[in-house]
Amino acid sequence: MDCQPQGQEKVDHADVREDMVEFWRELSHDCSVQEMMGDENADELDQEERPEILAMLHDLSGKRVLELGAGIGRFTPSVAGQADHVTAVDFVEAFIKKNEETNRHLGNIVFLQADVTRLDLPPESVDVVFSNWLMQYLADEEVSALAAKALSWLTDGGYFFFRESCFEKSGNKVKDGSFNPTFYRSPADYSAIFYAVAQDGRYVYQEQFAGRAVKTYIKHKNNKHQLCWLLKKVRHDRSDDVNIK
Ligand SMILES: C[S@@+](CC[C@H](N)C(=O)[O-])C[C@H]1O[C@@H](n2cnc3c(N)ncnc32)[C@H](O)[C@@H]1O
Repeated sequence: MDCQPQGQEKVDHADVREDMVEFWRELSHDCSVQEMMGDENADELDQEERPEILAMLHDLSGKRVLELGAGIGRFTPSVAGQADHVTAVDFVEAFIKKNEETNRHLGNIVFLQADVTRLDLPPESVDVVFSNWLMQYLADEEVSALAAKALSWLTDGGYFFFRESCFEKSGNKVKDGSFNPTFYRSPADYSAIFYAVAQDGRYVYQEQFAGRAVKTYIKHKNNKHQLCWLLKKVRHDRSDDVNIK
């Protein structure tokens, strides 16, 4: 896949983990929306894209949601406002603390400082997995392993939503040429990784939509590569109509 460093057959996961921790250490100073979005116009973009992203999710009422890479909680309160319960996970202590300070009062959120590549949860304990800009900070094999674990954490008929920057970065804060280990995959790469995952040969992901562009970024930044996926956990024998690109 074209997301691997040139001339290297296999990515060393220990190096990827170190790079990503270092990248986010350098980016976490004031726990701001600008840091979350990597953009100087983050406030304006946030106002417009947040409702757009949330509208792509199905009704969350009564659901248990796992939010991966939750950061300072741009989405956490809206999700918690609809859902029964949210587990918000981020590996940067300052981000998850800020999220907790801001949103603890909602009373239905568990805040977890953890690297998602090391996360483990009981089978069928989650109805919806939500992540906005997370997979791009994981190596291919890590995305694949997380997709497999998440399939087992989800209940039958549960959903996995994710949004990623494909081909190019989303914001103007990380300058060209500076240290940036982010994987800007193609949408086909993401679909292929999730398509290959199955749970005990019984459950698979079925795409509800794949590579749907975020209109806010087309409008404000002429960027049509901010892409979203919604996948449903279905029984293998009910996935004949799977719509994989
Ligand atoms: C671009 S920010 C997005 C934050 C939030 N989802 C949003 O849209 O505002 C990416 C977040 O993912 C977190 N992150 C990256 N890799 C992670 C990992 N392996 N485990 C947990 N969190 C991770 C970062 O700390 C950061 O908060």
